[in-house]
Amino acid sequence: MGFLYRNLLRPAVFFQDSEKAHLRIISTLARASKSRLWSSLMGSFYSSPDLPVRVLGLDFSNPLGIAAGMDKNGEAVPAWESIGFGFCEIGGVTLHEQPGNPKPRMFRANSEKALVNRMGFNNIGAKHVANKFQDWKNRGLWPKAPVGLNLGKSKVTPIEDASKDYAGSFELLWNYVDFFVINVSSPNTPGLRDLQHPNHLDSIFSACQIINDECSQTYSKPTKPILVKIAPEVSGDHLKALIQQIEKHSINGIIATNTTISRPQTKNSKSKRIFEESGGLSGLPLKNMSTEHIRKIYRHTNGNLPIIGVGGIFTVEDAWEKMAAGASLLQLYTGLVFEGPGIARSIVSGLKKKLKREGFNDIAEIVGIES
Ligand code: FNR
Repeated sequence: MGFLYRNLLRPAVFFQDSEKAHLRIISTLARASKSRLWSSLMGSFYSSPDLPVRVLGLDFSNPLGIAAGMDKNGEAVPAWESIGFGFCEIGGVTLHEQPGNPKPRMFRANSEKALVNRMGFNNIGAKHVANKFQDWKNRGLWPKAPVGLNLGKSKVTPIEDASKDYAGSFELLWNYVDFFVINVSSPNTPGLRDLQHPNHLDSIFSACQIINDECSQTYSKPTKPILVKIAPEVSGDHLKALIQQIEKHSINGIIATNTTISRPQTKNSKSKRIFEESGGLSGLPLKNMSTEHIRKIYRHTNGNLPIIGVGGIFTVEDAWEKMAAGASLLQLYTGLVFEGPGIARSIVSGLKKKLKREGFNDIAEIVGIES
């Protein structure tokens, strides 16, 4: 299937502008998700073998999820499980609907297996996303796999009111999803990455945890796990201060990492031009940076804080490396663009075989073995 995608479908997809191709694929998946027949057909081609893991108090049929940004508005919530992912993260969603940055804003560097994007949280806003979620639930199509939600700050909201913005979306969407991700690391909303500063995190975390407790009482359900997603550039004392805030507010985990604002060297002239575009870089050039980050966080927290590892996962080896460095769960975005819809199945079945070959019984046993 990967061969067919790479040789037949990918050239046609790559012939189009990156964002247009992306929107076409999402709307195809959205249509397919509404039909049980198409969903089960997708499942028969692409579903992954079981490789169960329990993290954040949730059960995952396998540890690989689809990363934030792929399905910003929850258009294709059921599709991710059908094509083999163990969970999905919808969003980034902001309190206010917003168009994002001017187009073009997504670029492919094919020879480097990388993307540069400056989307700027284009999304329909938290209220409309809640309506979409309700619609999937009404149709009986909500997936069994855990669903997370990535929260961003609306561009119109001043930095000093960021906590209200995050908490507002958090409240509107609380009853729908299994976990939340506070995203303070996208490089495409002015000032957003400044929110990684401990003082800002202090107020955002505390505003969200207050709503978490209130909603837990209102709906008579346990509180939801909250994670924070960080940039690969956060390190040293800054990382230590951030982890202190995480501990102070009982935040349940870290997602490492978001895209990078750094750029690798390349001799390819087309990639060179693309790397001159402003925005966040994802894919292969991010792989080692993100893995080293995971290792650092794992060591610093003595393996006590769940880490979702993301950045440049294309193969079984990439996935293994991240788990061995300390990630309990994984996500990918760019890998799906370059390798096609068979990527989850291929990685999960590869992990399962490798696990057996190396003499492990459970995927959780490899977390942090090379930290
Ligand atoms: C992203 N990513 C992202 N992350 C996030 O926290 N909120 C978001 O809204 C988005 N949006 C987004 C759009 C596009 C076009 C891309 C390519 C990426 C980052 C993404 O979730 C992931 O962290 C990085 O892309 C690194 O993983 P990969 O792509 O190398 O597997």
